Amino acid sequence: MSWRGLIDHYESFLPVNSKTPKLSLNEGNTPLIHLEKLSQKWGVDLHVKFEGLNPTGSFKDRGMVMAVAKAKEAGSEAVICASTGNTSAAAAAYAARAGLRCIIIIPEGKIALGKLSQAMIHGAEVYAIKGNFDNALNMVRKLSEQSAMTLVNSVNPYRIDGQKTAAFEVCEQLGHAPDHLAIPVGNAGNITAYWRGFKEWHEQNQSGLPKMCGFEASGSAAIVQNQVIEQPETVATAIRIGNPASWSYAIDAANESKGFIDDVDDEAILKAYKELAQEEGVFAEPASCASLAGVKKKLRTGEIKEGSSIVAVLTGNGLKDPDTAIDVVGEKPVSLPNDEKIVIEHILGQVIE
Ligand code: F0G
Repeated sequence: MSWRGLIDHYESFLPVNSKTPKLSLNEGNTPLIHLEKLSQKWGVDLHVKFEGLNPTGSFKDRGMVMAVAKAKEAGSEAVICASTGNTSAAAAAYAARAGLRCIIIIPEGKIALGKLSQAMIHGAEVYAIKGNFDNALNMVRKLSEQSAMTLVNSVNPYRIDGQKTAAFEVCEQLGHAPDHLAIPVGNAGNITAYWRGFKEWHEQNQSGLPKMCGFEASGSAAIVQNQVIEQPETVATAIRIGNPASWSYAIDAANESKGFIDDVDDEAILKAYKELAQEEGVFAEPASCASLAGVKKKLRTGEIKEGSSIVAVLTGNGLKDPDTAIDVVGEKPVSLPNDEKIVIEHILGQVIE
């Protein structure tokens, strides 16, 4: 049977009733890719859940399809969110599909180009502030309290409901839960959702429970440092967040699962980003690679043991942020004249007669 998206496929696990619109962009059902080279190199069984292959290129589609469907069901006319980019792309796309107005507040200059282009082309009303994500989130919270607009950041519980389906898929694809689930942490909604998903799936299917391993970027590691970061900074702009809304749920997920939350610096994130692309052919956006960089770090410290089965969540598509890819490679395409002989000579490194 063809895949018709999350509301259709996981209906019995979601807050859906006969009045809930069957909204879908065929989100979910993303591949779990085995990383053969890195598994061998690191002595583990490593898969990535490639959420960058969702319709708008990130895991946000899972939560957004639910949040927008429920907003529509409730008769709301507009959705509103703050975003480091991916939430806004998903909100704009699903709002367009559902025929709702979409209002977005973003930190100016700190949104990857691909994400901004998505919000714009889907017709959202985009406001860029000279502040960070945390400032923007405070503003949209107030706006939604003072108006009839529906807030669709991950403080909206339907977002978490939708996002937990990724954990169901991991268990189905692997046949059981992995020993470790590594995941980037920004506003901490996704780690909350995955943990809830693993618990629900285990209750019905005895699939086991993973240790939840969350990774913040060092320049915005509020949970790790146990303090709000007023000026968060990281190359991984998607997780450039200094006061995560689901902070306490993230700590619960780590504690209940006997996992942890740790941080990885930008250098480690970019190294993992390049290694993944060049050794495994998978192009994920920088923030996504915090999960992989984290696995590497924890294998070194021994907190993740050799021989473990690990699933690292790659939350977004590399195409979202072409600038970082080009910067990291540090080379431009070699410019040549339109001359067969010169091109062939250049590529083969020798003169052909
Ligand atoms: N990875 C990517 C690619 C993201 O876009 C985000 C969050 C995260 C990880 C972290 O997930 O917030 O649930 O802990 N992006 C949000 C946004 C904040 O606005 O797109 P989280």
